[in-house]
Amino acid sequence: MSVKRIGVLTSGGDAPGMNAAVRAVVRTCLYHGIEVYGIRRGWNGLIHGDVQKMDASSVSRTINRGGTILYTARSKEFMTEEGQLRAVSTCKFLGLDSIVAIGGDGTFRGARALSKYGINVVCIPGTIDNDICCTNYCIGFDTAANTAIECIDKLRDTMQSHERCSVVEVMGRNAGFLAMYVGLAVGATAVLVPEKEIDFEKDVIEKLRQARLHGFTHYMIVVAEGAGQATDIAQKIRDSIDLDPRVTVLGHIQRGGSPTGRDRVNATKMGYLAVELLLAGKTNRIVCTHNGQYTDVDIDEGLEMKKDIQEMEIDLLAAMTGYHS
Ligand code: F6P
Repeated sequence: MSVKRIGVLTSGGDAPGMNAAVRAVVRTCLYHGIEVYGIRRGWNGLIHGDVQKMDASSVSRTINRGGTILYTARSKEFMTEEGQLRAVSTCKFLGLDSIVAIGGDGTFRGARALSKYGINVVCIPGTIDNDICCTNYCIGFDTAANTAIECIDKLRDTMQSHERCSVVEVMGRNAGFLAMYVGLAVGATAVLVPEKEIDFEKDVIEKLRQARLHGFTHYMIVVAEGAGQATDIAQKIRDSIDLDPRVTVLGHIQRGGSPTGRDRVNATKMGYLAVELLLAGKTNRIVCTHNGQYTDVDIDEGLEMKKDIQEMEIDLLAAMTGYHS
């Protein structure tokens, strides 16, 4: 399998660090004397031939920038066989033999479809949700977590002054990895994640009562969007105890901002490895990381894997949020 011209795209929800990954793909290609094209707006760009030839200057001063310089989209068209065939035609027309796709599991499903038509594909996990099961780490998680932590620290100041309860909704789609991490980092009174069944009386109300008994006068409840809406949680608290919580939905602010060092370096390593995998003749792979080591898995296998919040983190949360004298 010869690799002569690689296309790189970002797809799905953007994540801070995607630019660092694009940059690493481009620079590794140039290092090996391979042509590289940036595909704009995810799979839609491949369908419609929305591409630009990349050189070193295309990615200069991008490592520190949030968002994605290639734009992103969730392509409905690419989910159809017709859309996929059009994308394959674009690849043939442009001489793109290989694609590096950066995104989440929807992106990976698209890449898998393309590989069935003989295009070489390697995927890089990029999502603030950190919910790609075959990897410990997804690009963007660290930056998003730090953004949420900074916001909640600010909220705490005003909650403390007014002796209030705050309910903060954190992104994560159906997963609670972001909320759990953020909740532990801000010293939340309670953290609600979809992976753990919620006993509202025990997991929220009792914790608020205990905190109050121990002299606390402000409270921080962190809820993963997959575990319920902050407005509903706040209303249930109002109905059960004499508190009038304020609601904050952090929303898309969590997806923005300059990537942290951790995201920049992870993205750089993953972008480099994606190109190296293609040059080693591999295809239909996902770059992943386990305990600090970088490796790769077959896309089909990767999509079948399951990842859960660690039991230890659930126990840790119980120890950190309870008041045990
Ligand atoms: O997957 C990333 C993510 O930010 C999720 O946390 C969130 O549920 C979703 O994307 C929001 O999507 P959109 O940008 O389409 O509102």
